[in-house]
Amino acid sequence: MQTKTFGETGIRVAAIGLGTTGMGTKAFHSQEYVRQRIYSLQLGMDLGMTFIDTASLYGNGFSEEVVGSALKGKRENCFLATKFYPNEEINSQEIQLGLEASLRRLQTDWIDLYQIHWPNPRVNYEKVFEVLEKYRESGAIRNFGICNFSPQETWDLAKSIPRISIVSNEIEFNLQNQMMGNAYLDSKVFSGAILAYSPLNQGRIVGSKTQAKLIEVLAEKYQATPSQVALAWILSFERIFPIVKAATQEHVKENAGAMALVLSNEDIQSLSDSSAEETVEVKPESIKLRGTPQRNPYLTLEEAIRNPLNLIPSPKILSESILRYGLRMPIRVLSLAGNKDSFEYELDSYDPFDQVKKYWAWKIAFPGKPIPVSIGKVFQ
Ligand SMILES: NC(=O)c1ccc[n+]([C@@H]2O[C@H](COP(=O)([O-])OP(=O)(O)OC[C@H]3O[C@@H](n4cnc5c(N)ncnc54)[C@H](OP(=O)(O)O)[C@@H]3O)[C@@H](O)[C@H]2O)c1
Repeated sequence: MQTKTFGETGIRVAAIGLGTTGMGTKAFHSQEYVRQRIYSLQLGMDLGMTFIDTASLYGNGFSEEVVGSALKGKRENCFLATKFYPNEEINSQEIQLGLEASLRRLQTDWIDLYQIHWPNPRVNYEKVFEVLEKYRESGAIRNFGICNFSPQETWDLAKSIPRISIVSNEIEFNLQNQMMGNAYLDSKVFSGAILAYSPLNQGRIVGSKTQAKLIEVLAEKYQATPSQVALAWILSFERIFPIVKAATQEHVKENAGAMALVLSNEDIQSLSDSSAEETVEVKPESIKLRGTPQRNPYLTLEEAIRNPLNLIPSPKILSESILRYGLRMPIRVLSLAGNKDSFEYELDSYDPFDQVKKYWAWKIAFPGKPIPVSIGKVFQ
């Protein structure tokens, strides 16, 4: 299966999309690594993954620039998704400039999917889409999507912009973390496409020893790799599209191979059943914040509220979403030495800022209360 129908749009889109995080910034990147990423994106498209997901926030626009280079000669065949993050002081000129800058960096006249990167309860989306609808009419934007919206947030958004069609939502969905994906599969709130980010659980693939054993058995049975089984499991959900980041060519080829793998209904069910997310609540003081000057995790509540690194969404805004919608949002941590009476964790460094935002948002929303964490481990 190379393509699937994209939600309710009727458009056929590559079943697996290519992720584009971690390329660095214009000022700080390795040229050799960027060359490798361009080659891997082009290889991915040549192997049928003609769907790229980027964002204006990734490397402050640098990821879009790299994608623009990778798309040379391939734009017509690629479904291109990028993201924007409107802030609460809606300024139509800023929204227009943001879109035009993305088009310029991507070296294209149109974006197939323009997505709101994160919900922000302070934003008046009616005003945002008043500006953007003109671009949809002119063809510069073909579809609108959202990311990281819970079902209730999606419902509220749809009510506030009744004339706008939102065709997709990009959320985390993998064997370890099925929480949000299941919330959508179980609810009738949204029938668009779901883009599953971190489909390989950020390279860990599984989330528990049980899953690790199961996926080995299935990989053997299907003569495939564990990653291919994990991707094929996501592909089995009709409207879910995994977005996988792979810098290495071996990984790109392996991931493309997953599009040909069809698991039996029984095996799909056993993978789903194996996946109860290992979320526990831990004392805030058991999470050690470590950082470097470049990757400062914020060390005080005051600093987190001030948000000097301009993390988006800010911990404060994220805390407002948590409070308003009752979101749990486990923070991914790594286990340090522990015994049965005392455990210590540190924030996962795969995407440290993502965890920093959630950690402080939780502390702002519920001072002193236990924090929900998902404990990341490598099981292979
Ligand atoms: N909308 C949002 O808020 C949001 C948030 C997070 C992510 N995303 C999107 O989703 C994309 C993917 O998410 P992610 O990077 O968090 O997680 P991921 O795709 O689950 O994991 C990427 C990691 O898995 C490794 N990998 C790739 N293919 C593999 C294979 N076949 N076998 C073993 N390891 C493999 C990669 O290694 P190599 O790179 O070394 O090959 C990389 O370390 C991002 O790039 C981004 O486009 C969106």
